[in-house]
Amino acid sequence: MSADGKLAGAERKQIRISSDEDITRVKNLRRKYNAILVGVGTVIADDPHLTVKNATYDENPIRIVLDTNGRTPDSARVLDDKAPTVVITCEECTKDWPGVESVRCGKGHIDLPRAMEILAEEYGIENVIVEGGGEVIASFFREKLVDKYTVFVGGLVIGGRTAPTPADGEGWVAEGGVRLNLTNSEVLGNGILLTFIPSY
Ligand SMILES: NC(=O)c1ccc[n+]([C@@H]2O[C@H](COP(=O)([O-])OP(=O)(O)OC[C@H]3O[C@@H](n4cnc5c(N)ncnc54)[C@H](OP(=O)(O)O)[C@@H]3O)[C@@H](O)[C@H]2O)c1
Repeated sequence: MSADGKLAGAERKQIRISSDEDITRVKNLRRKYNAILVGVGTVIADDPHLTVKNATYDENPIRIVLDTNGRTPDSARVLDDKAPTVVITCEECTKDWPGVESVRCGKGHIDLPRAMEILAEEYGIENVIVEGGGEVIASFFREKLVDKYTVFVGGLVIGGRTAPTPADGEGWVAEGGVRLNLTNSEVLGNGILLTFIPSY
């Protein structure tokens, strides 16, 4: 996030916040995880690939999209053949994407705890990086599914009261918020990486 706590501009357009050192960190981090997860809001706003540079199909983490009603465009980069992709929708959704696995989970909305169980049981996924956006990160906090929260604070002020932040959504993620214990801080170029462990 930027130094004023934003993930992007008010019009939700992607803007570079990371230093070169932080970009290298994120690339290396992705290699260590079984899966990378984003919400459909990020797919529509940023159209990310969510792959590791020079990695083969099997070396890449599994890409996971939370998309209740199947709004992911057929042309989205996250659906390409560079890595496996799983799109999670609600049970009523009938949308399918060629060559992509769909998981239907929850009535009218995605049952996030159950979705994590299915990813473990059916896909062998033991750890997931949730890369955003703010709506999805807030849901993971609300469901007490965050084990570790790392945020790079970059040297940039964005502004805009409607610009997305790392935990958006409707109201509190928990009554009074979720307390975090700071376990590490590291300067990475023109910014700082903060690591917190939630105390639910
Ligand atoms: N700086 C960064 O590192 C970074 C990283 C990622 C994103 N971003 C920015 O963040 C913005 C996108 O964030 P966003 O908050 O709009 O979108 P998001 O969190 O990526 O996606 C939110 C959408 O996901 C769907 N969803 C399905 N299940 C959900 C659940 N359990 N909890 C929450 N959402 C669920 C909902 O749409 P449906 O109801 O249609 O399913 C919801 O509107 C963009 O501006 C992007 O550039 C920045």
